[in-house]
Amino acid sequence: MAAIEPKTATLKNGKEVCIRTPVAEDAPRVIRYLKTVFVDDRFFMTTEEEAQKWQEPEREQKILHENYLDDNKLILATEMNQRIISLSNVHAGERNRNRHVGQMGISILPEYRGNGLGTAIMQAMIDWGTAHPVIEKLALGVWADNAPAIALYEKMGFIEEGRKVREVKYADGQYDDCICMYRFV
Ligand SMILES: CC(C)(COP(=O)(O)OP(=O)(O)OC[C@H]1O[C@@H](n2cnc3c(N)ncnc32)[C@H](O)[C@@H]1OP(=O)(O)O)[C@@H](O)C(=O)NCCC(=O)NCCS
Repeated sequence: MAAIEPKTATLKNGKEVCIRTPVAEDAPRVIRYLKTVFVDDRFFMTTEEEAQKWQEPEREQKILHENYLDDNKLILATEMNQRIISLSNVHAGERNRNRHVGQMGISILPEYRGNGLGTAIMQAMIDWGTAHPVIEKLALGVWADNAPAIALYEKMGFIEEGRKVREVKYADGQYDDCICMYRFV
């Protein structure tokens, strides 16, 4: 089972949030979050249109339940006033030769960014990865023009290990590179 003890974090603006593992009953609120966060999908691989298929309550319930039961897949939801304001995850590799690598992802609703929440969530994921019996390396990919995310990852000890050139192509024909970053735990 991949779950953490719920953690309270105080943001720079003094507001308190709860970082915890979501369960199947959270599906409607997770869907509400996904509908909002993908409105600005520039920094994600998934487009808003593609994300719409995730917004089926039964599918979401199943994903949350399966992740909860899986030792190697952590999802974290951050709540403020009963509303989910961030989702993040670490998924360990599924093959014998990459089980030691946890791939990470994080998103926060726009109005809650820049207040230290990303730092608190990344720390919770790093703590989980550090305590995990198999994970040795945490890894992620970030678009080269996503300065706030790169600053967060560098702050949390992540180092660039390579760059996938023109890995992303937007509908307007523009490209971006994907910077691969890692840290050992
Ligand atoms: C990336 C993201 C998770 C960062 O979360 P956050 O809560 O804003 O991060 P924090 O407030 O903890 O900031 C961490 C550090 O990043 C830097 N930072 C924050 N906002 C920044 C900005 N707008 N520009 C440049 N650097 C910034 C600061 O150095 C900060 O460190 P400090 O608090 O010690 O000064 C958030 O901006 C987000 O959800 N973005 C959209 C989705 C996304 O890009 N996800 C990542 C895809 S790879």
